[in-house]
Amino acid sequence: TRAIKIAPSILSADFANFGAECEAIEAQGCDWVHVDVMDGHFVPNITFGPSTCAAIRKHIKGVMDVHLMIAPVDSYIDAFAASGADVITAHLEAGPHIHRTLQAIRATGAKAGLALNPGTGIDAVAHLLDMVDLVCVMTVNPGFGGQKFIQSQVDKMRALRAMIGDRPIHIEIDGGVTVETAPLVAAAGADVLVAGSAVFKGGSVANPAPYGANIRAI
Ligand code: DX5
Ligand code: ZN
Repeated sequence: TRAIKIAPSILSADFANFGAECEAIEAQGCDWVHVDVMDGHFVPNITFGPSTCAAIRKHIKGVMDVHLMIAPVDSYIDAFAASGADVITAHLEAGPHIHRTLQAIRATGAKAGLALNPGTGIDAVAHLLDMVDLVCVMTVNPGFGGQKFIQSQVDKMRALRAMIGDRPIHIEIDGGVTVETAPLVAAAGADVLVAGSAVFKGGSVANPAPYGANIRAI
């Protein structure tokens, strides 16, 4: 069986304490740190940009997984790579030239991720298999944490796993991951589970033990 990685989304962390929050979740045993960048245009919410990512980077020992919910995206790739992102994920829906976008990400030395909104099919992935290191299946409409898991995405994930087979491409699942939904997505072939509210609930920088319990429960 595939090793499952947990990637807490700092969208659910204390925005005034990102450094300490990243250190706390790593100390509590997470695998990757998932960083949600939103522009108020591609998605109806705004978070932060590359300078915040660079500041966070100093507090992350492991993989910094940057999810770009921005359009246009190409002109910002170098800045996010320079911020120290290990994985940079762009949305298929963010522009007409996803192939070029993925090429540009790889050219920086970062791993290239491709995210699909819930209403987007997997057909395009077949033409990008040699261009991606990760495919992110959104199980909520992107923009906010704490939304309800969209069940119809499980079949999509299973079809994506069949398409990817044993290629070294991660299937990441983002949105609504809980103790209840995590086994479903793992069985459907996901190997990186992003979880925001489910990891950060009940804990804080001052009291981070619940983060660890939440990670282990997922
Ligand atoms: C949604 C973000 C997610 C979000 C997940 O737009 O991409 O990473 O933080 O939050 P939960 O786990 O609370 O659904
Ligand atoms: Zn995300």
